[in-house]
Amino acid sequence: MLNLFDFEAAASRLVESSAWGYQTGGANDEITLRENRRAWDDIAIRYRTMVDVRTRVLSTTVLGSPVSMPILVAPTAMQKLAHPDGECGMAQAAAAAGTLMIVSTTATTGLAEVQAATPAPKWFQVYIYQGREYTRELVRRAAAVGYKALVLTVDAPTLGRRERDIRSGFTLPPGLHIANADHVGMDVVPTATADASGLMHHFRGLHDPSLSPRDIEWLRDLSGLPVLVKGIVRGDDAVRAVEHGASGIVVSNHGGRQLDTSIATARCLREVVTAVDGRAEVYVDGGIRRGTDVLKALALGARAVLLGRPPVWGLAVGGAQGAQQVLELLRDELDLAMALAGCPTIESITPDLVALPG
Ligand code: GLV
Repeated sequence: MLNLFDFEAAASRLVESSAWGYQTGGANDEITLRENRRAWDDIAIRYRTMVDVRTRVLSTTVLGSPVSMPILVAPTAMQKLAHPDGECGMAQAAAAAGTLMIVSTTATTGLAEVQAATPAPKWFQVYIYQGREYTRELVRRAAAVGYKALVLTVDAPTLGRRERDIRSGFTLPPGLHIANADHVGMDVVPTATADASGLMHHFRGLHDPSLSPRDIEWLRDLSGLPVLVKGIVRGDDAVRAVEHGASGIVVSNHGGRQLDTSIATARCLREVVTAVDGRAEVYVDGGIRRGTDVLKALALGARAVLLGRPPVWGLAVGGAQGAQQVLELLRDELDLAMALAGCPTIESITPDLVALPG
């Protein structure tokens, strides 16, 4: 395997077809899905020369936790669909690569079991459920077992329309369940209907579409943990989040899976970084497949990137080891990009390194 696309091709042959459609697809015409990727390609690198790059240091910190590289594992749902190692395997892969995993609420393994798989630092992604007591309970559990931060997803008041999943009648196969919803008796994903996938029904029945910025403070006070807000594509939204206590912003459009034709993340990252103005750490995901994409994201002001689908492809190909290989591959690509761009350290990846289109 030479690159992440090789893992994608291999995974496509291994994962059952409706699960593959779920993992790989986006909303409606999948325009944002494609644009997320293209937007990184559209940015040119103004590399530096005559810099001593004999040693490159990729390590950094994310909300105070040391990581070996600015590449984190994004929250992705239902990882046992890819491989029986599931979320525990992903946590082990992230730990072995010296980085941090964000564990999804919609996991096929309970949050305590994932935490027990490795002591490496992890963050917990939160969907707020209808009837706040369930979320209260979940978030307290996450804090009690040692998660280091919460990542509140704000771009999914309801699930985007993923036509691949409607056509395939996607739902979780027997034997797999949304483990964190077991306390509400909602862990079995409903059967799909002609107009909605099983997951769309799960969201409609369980998720709260009435979020407000006050929920950031609520989560922070409830858990005692820092809260990052994920799913932001505008400077003013980022400022509202920071003013309500967010410690981090994740510039994301949910991997093109929610509102189709929404702006590509590479095209709004700089606006968000400028608006936040150092008051919170800014992260980005969406279409990152190359070490040069990571370099560009950092030059635009991201603290680190989140990688969503590729580690899932790795998991499908080789369980925990496959997911680790994906992370190591991207690390090697970033290392090479830093060498060729004249950047021996993360701090030397500065805004002048990129030329935006137009
Ligand atoms: C769940 O969050 C999904 O995007 O499918």
